[in-house]
Amino acid sequence: MIHELTRLGFLVSGRGSNLQAIIQACKDKKLYAEPAVVISNNASAGALDIARSESIPAIHISRNTHPDIDQLDRAITETLQQHQADLVILAGYMKKIGPVLLKAYRNRIINIHPSLLPKFGGQGMYGMRVHAAVLAAGERVTGATVHLVDYDYDSGPILGQRQVEVLAGDNPESLAIRVLAAEHALLVEVLQDIIKGKIILPDH
Ligand code: GRF
Repeated sequence: MIHELTRLGFLVSGRGSNLQAIIQACKDKKLYAEPAVVISNNASAGALDIARSESIPAIHISRNTHPDIDQLDRAITETLQQHQADLVILAGYMKKIGPVLLKAYRNRIINIHPSLLPKFGGQGMYGMRVHAAVLAAGERVTGATVHLVDYDYDSGPILGQRQVEVLAGDNPESLAIRVLAAEHALLVEVLQDIIKGKIILPDH
């Protein structure tokens, strides 16, 4: 079957504001795509509730449902394939991607990170820790990065970045709010550039 719209598969762990931003952009036709499936390792993730309320298939797959790590990797991959996802978006996914998924969706897995990578990335750099580290380092500018996913954390080729000024008096929470707004805009922009062929992904 040929789909007119690019089908997006999501892996999520938390509240799902990036997922929500993409769903809205699809509805507003700012993004020529359709959400195909949302998978979470966390059965109580807000992102699953968002998906359900939008009638998008919402599926919990984790070490609880699949204790064997290889079976878990295969189950995630097969679920994305069954829902005919063309691209996979890691929208706040806190688990490492397995080799089966990486191979099946080589150069088709996209992550959003709340800093200007390669700064403030890597294992353990997530959530407020990122913004606290930015402030501790005295950075004047931070931002968001969208990149392709490879075998390591936060290390694949960068597809787009958006800067956010660090203001006097910022704390991690205030900075996080402005970076999150930048993430939402950047993710939609990069996805649309991929779909329109303005950004050409390496061979699958
Ligand atoms: C975002 O800050 C994203 O950059 C990071 O995880 C967070 C997810 O937020 N990878 P949300 O669940 O999309 O609201």
